Amino acid sequence: MQIIDLRSDTVTKPTLKMRQAMKEAEVGDDGFGEDPTTNRFEKMAAEMVGKEDALFVSSGVMGNLIAIMVYTKPGDGLICDRKAHINTMASGNTAALTGVTICPLDVDELGRFDTEELESYINLEDVRFPKTSLIVLENTNNLAGGTVVTPEETSIVFRIAKKNGLCLHLDGARIFNSAIAQGVEVAELTKDCDSVMFCISKGLASPVGSIIAGTKEFIVEARRKRKMLGGSMRQTGVLATCGIISLEEMIDRLKEDHDNARYLAEGLTRIEGFNINLDTVQTNIIYFKFELPKVSCKKFVEDISKKGVYIVYLERDSGRMVTHKDLNKSDIDCALKAIKNTVSGY
Ligand SMILES: Cc1ncc(COP(=O)(O)O)c(C=O)c1O
Repeated sequence: MQIIDLRSDTVTKPTLKMRQAMKEAEVGDDGFGEDPTTNRFEKMAAEMVGKEDALFVSSGVMGNLIAIMVYTKPGDGLICDRKAHINTMASGNTAALTGVTICPLDVDELGRFDTEELESYINLEDVRFPKTSLIVLENTNNLAGGTVVTPEETSIVFRIAKKNGLCLHLDGARIFNSAIAQGVEVAELTKDCDSVMFCISKGLASPVGSIIAGTKEFIVEARRKRKMLGGSMRQTGVLATCGIISLEEMIDRLKEDHDNARYLAEGLTRIEGFNINLDTVQTNIIYFKFELPKVSCKKFVEDISKKGVYIVYLERDSGRMVTHKDLNKSDIDCALKAIKNTVSGY
C-alpha cells in the first residue's frame, strides 16, 4: 500500500546528499567548541537570520525552552498565542522547568494578536500578577494554519515589547516557509526579534536539530542552559553538515510545498464535510474542520489511515495536513481520491 504521510513536514527523510555529507563530515568535540562543521553551520545560520551568534540545539522545543530560561526568572510571566506550540505542545515544559506563568491570548483567524489587548496584558507593577518579561511570537503560526507574520506585524509587537522593557523571542520553527511565502529575506522577519529559533528538521529535511540565534551575550547564556538541560553534544558535525545543506539547497523548494498545500486545500473544499478557510492556507499547513453529521473527524482520520493517507487529528472536528518534499502533486491527487472515496462511503 502506498503511504501518503500528511501528518507533518517532520517526516521528511534526509536527502542522499545529506547522507553522503554525514559520512564525510569533519568533526570534533562540540563540548569544547571544536567541531568545525558545527561552528561553520552556526556562523552561517547566524548570518542568515541577521544575528551576532547562533547555537545548534537538538530540537525546536529545546531551543524555545532555552530562550525562555535565558530571558526570565521563576515567577515571571510570558505572553503568547493561546495555541502557540510553547503553550500547547511542549509537554508543559515552561511550567515544569522554568517557573514562568504563561499568559495565553487569543489571536484572530489568521493568527494575529490584537495588539491593544496584548499591551493591556503586560504587567510590570501589580504585585498580584506575574511580572511580564517576555513575548513569544510564532512565525509561521502552526495551529492558525501555517499563517505568516509579516515584518510590519513583527515590528509592532517589538515596539510594544521594547516600550515596556520586555524581550521578544520568535518561535520560527518554519520561518523559511514564511519568508518564501512572503517573498522577503528571512532577516526581514527576524530583525525585530531579540532571538529566533528555527528548525532544520521540518520542511528543510535535515534529520535532527534546530538553531537559536541572538546576541553574543544571549548565546553565551543559551550555551549554559543547553548544558544544564543535557543538550550539549559532541561530534555534532554529522548533523550540522545536513543543516548546511538545508540552508544552501532546501529553502527555495519550499514554494513547491506551498503550491501543493493550496492544491490540496482547494481539492478538499470540493469534498463534502470539509470546511477550510482558504485564507489561512498560506504555506504548507492545512487546518481543516470535518463536519459530517454522522461521522466524527476522529473516525474519518482513523478510516483514511487504513487507506495509507496519514493525517493528524487535533480536537473535536478539526485536523491538520502538512505538505513536504517527500510528497509530489501526484501523491496529493492520490490522497484526494482516497479521501473522496472514504467520504462517499459514509
Ligand atoms: C511552531 C513550532 N515550534 C516548535 C516546534 C518544536 O520542534 P521540535 O519538534 O523540533 O521540538 C514545532 C514542532 O512541530 C512547531 O511546529
